[in-house]
Amino acid sequence: MNKQVKLLQSKEELIEQALEICLAKMQEAISQRGQCTIALAGGNTPKPLYESIATQNLPWDKIHVFWGDERYVDPDHSDSNQKMARQAWLDRVPIPPTNIHPMPTGAGDPEADASSHDAHLREFFQVSPGDFPSFDLILLGMGGDAHTASLFPHTDALQISDRLITVGNKDGQPRLTFTAPLINQAHCVIFLVAGADKQAALDRVFAENEDEMKYPSRLIQPKGELHWLLTGVNI
Ligand code: 6PG
Repeated sequence: MNKQVKLLQSKEELIEQALEICLAKMQEAISQRGQCTIALAGGNTPKPLYESIATQNLPWDKIHVFWGDERYVDPDHSDSNQKMARQAWLDRVPIPPTNIHPMPTGAGDPEADASSHDAHLREFFQVSPGDFPSFDLILLGMGGDAHTASLFPHTDALQISDRLITVGNKDGQPRLTFTAPLINQAHCVIFLVAGADKQAALDRVFAENEDEMKYPSRLIQPKGELHWLLTGVNI
């Protein structure tokens, strides 16, 4: 793993830096592997990044968009990570609809939807049971409780090591999420963390020794590049 930590002076600078890395990684993936697979973070922080990517002139037919986690709501619900990314980015560019791979939330059964998305990823990447595909780029946020994606402290999702997708749980609310081993198989992972409310969690995630079950972002140790882009905190 190649870990880089950057403290930026403002949210705008953080987004500019994230855009630079994203564009470089997309180009690299397309030139080396003929396509780019990117998994998006939800929440608020990445929205301006998605709006910036939407202004770029990219080979959209070679870019496949996934989500690292999703609230278990309809795609038109205000909490939907899919809805946010479509409004900020995907509805604004000529990306083929078949290049957009949202996490399904319509079965009325999170486990069933998790299994079907797991199967979809295996089919797309042509990986067999027990193997984990390598996304070219995975974007992550971090909550004030040190969760990432929908891997929340002291939940069963943190222990899943034989699946790509599992059911996360936030205060009883189900979510679909990439598992830690799937995230860790990525060529490049970027954490976008902004705001003093993340300081306490960041201190524990960056500490020498701490409980990964209590601070799940510590689980993210990808085989490829790991970028922490920070602002509004001290390190
Ligand atoms: C989600 C996200 C989640 C988010 C963090 C940080 O579905 O909410 O995937 O992991 O990245 O909670 O959220 P903010 O960027 O809004 O602080």
